[in-house]
Amino acid sequence: MSEYSEDQVQQLVKKSHEMKQMSYCPYSNFPVGAALLTADGTVFTGCNVENASYGLVICAERTAIVKAVSEGHRKFKAMALASDLKEIAIVPCGACRQFLVEFGVDWDVIMTKPDMTYEVMKTKELLPLCFVPTDLQRVRVV
Ligand code: THU
Repeated sequence: MSEYSEDQVQQLVKKSHEMKQMSYCPYSNFPVGAALLTADGTVFTGCNVENASYGLVICAERTAIVKAVSEGHRKFKAMALASDLKEIAIVPCGACRQFLVEFGVDWDVIMTKPDMTYEVMKTKELLPLCFVPTDLQRVRVV
């Protein structure tokens, strides 16, 4: 059972697709949008932001999370992702999966297609055996 409504899912899916319009992706021409639902019901959006120094790209997922955290939100329920890929739902890249588990291993990633269908997976399913903040508190040999 998820702690959010079907209406909220629909809102996240719609917003994630709307956010593709904000994408700055002159190099890849691959717009990605994200919509993040926080524990208190606030929604933060994001898009990918590229750079002429290609390696500096910031993905839509990380944009949304940085916006939320910088406004005081650290607990998340779900994030919807959108791209223009017709045949498959957009999945978060490896770096973004690590960014997602930083804020919990048990919240939902809603991976959508342009026809508004989607697949949902937990952050821990997307990044099994992940390194998380509590690992830094574990017993060490030195
Ligand atoms: N991208 C995202 O924003 N999120 C993903 O989950 C996959 C990739 C962006 C990065 C880059 O701007 C473009 O898509 C192509 O890799």
